[in-house]
Amino acid sequence: MNFDSLPPGNVIRNNSSPKSGPGLRPPVARYMAIDILGISAFYHDSAACLLRNGEIVAAAQEERFSRKKHDARFPSHAIRFCLRSGEISPESLRYIVFYDKPLLKFERLLETYIAFAPKGIRSYLMAMPVWLKDKLMLKKLLQKELLGLFPELRKGSLPPVLFSEHHESHAASAFYPSPFERAAVLCMDGVGEWATTSAWVGEGNSLTPLWEIPFPHSLGLLYSAFTYYTGFKVNSGEYKVMGLAPYGRPKYVQTIYDHLLDLKPDGTFRLNMGYFNYCTGLTMTNGKFDRLFDGPPRKPESPLTQREMDLARSVQDITEEVMLRLSRTVHGETGARNLCLAGGVALNCVGNGRVLREGDFEKLWIQPAAGDAGGAIGAAYAAWHEVDEHPRVVRCGQDSMRGAYLGPEFCDDEVERFLGEISAPYERLDEDALISRAANELACGKVVGWLCGRMEFGPRALGGRSILGDPRSPKMQSVMNLKIKYRESFRPFAPSVLRDKASDYFELDADSPYMLLVAPLRHGRRIEMSAEEQALWGINLLNVPRSDIPAVTHVDYSARIQTVHEDTNPRYYKLLKEFERKTGCAVLVNTSFNVRGEPIVCTPEDAYRCFMRTEMDVLILETCFLYKNQQKPLSSDSDWKKEFELD
Ligand SMILES: [Fe+2]
Repeated sequence: MNFDSLPPGNVIRNNSSPKSGPGLRPPVARYMAIDILGISAFYHDSAACLLRNGEIVAAAQEERFSRKKHDARFPSHAIRFCLRSGEISPESLRYIVFYDKPLLKFERLLETYIAFAPKGIRSYLMAMPVWLKDKLMLKKLLQKELLGLFPELRKGSLPPVLFSEHHESHAASAFYPSPFERAAVLCMDGVGEWATTSAWVGEGNSLTPLWEIPFPHSLGLLYSAFTYYTGFKVNSGEYKVMGLAPYGRPKYVQTIYDHLLDLKPDGTFRLNMGYFNYCTGLTMTNGKFDRLFDGPPRKPESPLTQREMDLARSVQDITEEVMLRLSRTVHGETGARNLCLAGGVALNCVGNGRVLREGDFEKLWIQPAAGDAGGAIGAAYAAWHEVDEHPRVVRCGQDSMRGAYLGPEFCDDEVERFLGEISAPYERLDEDALISRAANELACGKVVGWLCGRMEFGPRALGGRSILGDPRSPKMQSVMNLKIKYRESFRPFAPSVLRDKASDYFELDADSPYMLLVAPLRHGRRIEMSAEEQALWGINLLNVPRSDIPAVTHVDYSARIQTVHEDTNPRYYKLLKEFERKTGCAVLVNTSFNVRGEPIVCTPEDAYRCFMRTEMDVLILETCFLYKNQQKPLSSDSDWKKEFELD
């Protein structure tokens, strides 16, 4: 962590953390109330986080307020929310910390253009005006935005603005809030300034960089190239590729190793840039890539074929192999028992599951906002521990993410005021009656929208803003995909399971509170396929019954698991308990409260709108209970499917 005025260019870093560099403040007294605002912005998933005395007070993504998915603009709403949560004004912040270093990023951009020139002139000409106008002057831009956001501020009263390196922010977001005193840290993403993969060791209040793999060689960009080529949106559709993979065969694995990826035994790698276009063009892959895989990229929204499924499976298998090898390497280098992960690749929960099961580490902790939104948390933590050198307190076995419930919440009175304003019929129930009725409706096959407590930080809904269903129902997956979420039928749903019952259902011997681990279903729960069914491939597998909880069992008998913990979300835990008491099943289908292309809902108003636009049966807003068949249709809302760009 240093000021941006320090010289750029230390791409391969060493242990000499610039804690005493020019312009840095001396360490402050330990127990003063100190607030630090972390910001990530201007690439994708803008977010803000408020850290007070080393504890996260609030964190949120801008998209939830602006209703624009992956919103990359300056996170005005998220900042306002964070400061309101902390009841402070911006001038009392000790620092504002940005999650990457624009000068280093610009250096990478320039060097890349020079290396490939004259190729890439078009993308160069497109990128430069934005850089020269805004991004290079980021400190000024941030100050301007903040003064616009808080007009009562005087320029001289703005707190110092610091810049953390992109992978340093990821590493800090992975290690500092983790439950470990010491851990190895792996960050894997598309690219930050230069690094695309980095290894660290975290101990106490410090992070020491070990090594990094620089751009353009990037595991995240390799995955994104296949995301693009299979017709999905880059930086958004990677989840779909992962979900599609089990329908396919690893037909192209050898082709990828032979032509695209030189993977070393230690997991480090180089890409053959002759097949990729992202250094010089406006697409991820080029004509040579098309010829290698016998055709052009799939057109978005056109029918999926076995080829896309096989491509997805192949790049998924390779990603898992790289993750496993890298994890073994950092285990050998650090001798650590624990591993922390962050960066967009750490959202690959299938890979995470394999690292946990087949790797050498005893424990694994993944930052729930592993993508760039989480950089806001890491940047703030880096200033707290590395600039001001505060010690780190690790609570035994507990992380500091508060279950990722770090966003806005709404009290019953606020909910009732809103429902009164729109004259929506509802019933306010005490908690026991609410839980009992919700469990009954779920057991009858009803689909329930559930807004409870603080909104989650990160891409997953964890029982704060969720749509819930009965996993035993064979029809639930297609009902939820086609009538509730309006999304592709192949996409699997994830289970929430009572923490102490997880091993009754899944081969998982660890907590997974953030839905970032995929594990196999226990053999005893599987419905083994007949010989004819085993011969099926691709989408034909979708309707083969697979277990006694078919709605959350993927075609390869895997599930992306959320273990539900009483201490972090007591009401959701109670609901699962009651559902289990009524049905004998300790699992619910849990999917994010939104439709395709829409950010997850934030307010009761967002939730009500989404409820009314879909075929959900019941809506629960805190302790207010609403039935769809009692509501009046939304007026003048006929064109809403055009409101959200498809993801
Ligand atoms: Fe990143």
